[in-house]
Amino acid sequence: MGRLVAVSNRVADPRNASAGGLAVALGEALKVTGGLWFGWSGKVVETAQGGTPGEGELHQQQAGNVTLATVDLCREDHDGYYLGYSNGVLWPVFHYRLDLADFDAGQNLNIYRRVNQLFARKLAPLLEPDDEIWIHDYHLIPLAAELRAIGCSQRIGFFLHIPLPPPLILAAIPQHEWLMRALFAYDLVGFQSHADLEHFGRYVQSEARAEPMGEHRYRAFHRTVRAQAFPIGIDVDEFAELGRGPEARETYEMMMAQYARRRLLLGIDRLDYSKGLPQRLKAFQILLAEYPENRMSATLVQIAAPSRESVDAYADLRREMEGITGAINGRYGELDWMPVRYIHRTTSRRRLPGLCRASRVALVTPLRDGMNLVAKEYVAAQDPADPGVLVLSRFAGAAEQMKEALLVNPYDTRATAQAVQQALHMPLAERQARHGKLLERIRAQDVHWWSGEFLRTLAESDCG
Ligand code: G6P
Repeated sequence: MGRLVAVSNRVADPRNASAGGLAVALGEALKVTGGLWFGWSGKVVETAQGGTPGEGELHQQQAGNVTLATVDLCREDHDGYYLGYSNGVLWPVFHYRLDLADFDAGQNLNIYRRVNQLFARKLAPLLEPDDEIWIHDYHLIPLAAELRAIGCSQRIGFFLHIPLPPPLILAAIPQHEWLMRALFAYDLVGFQSHADLEHFGRYVQSEARAEPMGEHRYRAFHRTVRAQAFPIGIDVDEFAELGRGPEARETYEMMMAQYARRRLLLGIDRLDYSKGLPQRLKAFQILLAEYPENRMSATLVQIAAPSRESVDAYADLRREMEGITGAINGRYGELDWMPVRYIHRTTSRRRLPGLCRASRVALVTPLRDGMNLVAKEYVAAQDPADPGVLVLSRFAGAAEQMKEALLVNPYDTRATAQAVQQALHMPLAERQARHGKLLERIRAQDVHWWSGEFLRTLAESDCG
């Protein structure tokens, strides 16, 4: 196999534990194979007077066996491509939130295209003929088409980390045909779940009249693409190892000492409207109201890492969360007990295993989520002799694999409260049995399985 070239909007040093599902998983995969990781530097530069938008500077640095190559974006490009089109149109629609999408995004679409062209221009000179190129996520859907347009003929795969909605919802995007046609410039397209794959199959057959060409292959726009589900996983051993580190141990001990008489419930998310955080808090409020034995005992630690703060919907959510948290604490709090500990900051990844292990219940209740790796990390961090219980949304991609969790509809806040109550009272033997099966599953399809399967399939995807 040739050198691996991974491309994603976010790039991180794979040797440093960082936050964000994509960056962590891709970092773990690249640590094994080595190669080149290309993307945005995370820097926004103000364009000098008379400067040309769309001409970011290229930086290269070595991080172990991985070369990081990144480009800066000027303000206009960042705002149009990242905030405007990727996170103002694609993210909400792909998460079924048509109400939050900006459908009047013509200029942002042009900038989205322009940044994809910029990435193609900057990446092409770094490529070798037998490289295997693996492009990630919704920011970069048209990148393969742009690379092909300037003569790149390497094998190119794409993985969508977020859900793909059903055709009716997808077609709400005015440029849906252009986006989906762009997927046919890839040799392999990967999705998180079978549901996403099924939506792709239905879309291309109904809207693009693609002919199915046997298992996982579709022909349309004079090209054949292979499409398959590859549920992303975590590095179970790496997370367990992190759990043995000083920060995780210290966090565990601190939480156990502080909450010795309490039952900890845990949520760890980016502050994103797809994560169902207001609904989760309402479910917690119902738990306190309807099962009063939990007052003075159940404590919800909710970490909500700041995210995409210049997009209006995120600022609105922040205010909403502060309001609900204040209302619950004001109503139920006592001098020596606060029901909700709400932390609107990023927490070091090194502390997370300790936090997970100290919590009796994890609430992973997104309204829609491509996968959700926190669900898997929570399971990996548990003590098998006395494990906690995972309450998981049926609308997270992870629910396809993690059937032994307590699956809930996060919109049904009363049923979610009942599931939490069930989790708090679950007998040890049942907790152990569920945890054992979940651990088996996340081990069988871990992050190395994910990247290995994807790249093996890409290597044998001779499309054209
Ligand atoms: C999701 C997306 C990733 C993204 C991450 C963090 O997991 O699938 O592509 O990197 O969120 O969001 P951000 O906008 O900060 O990159």
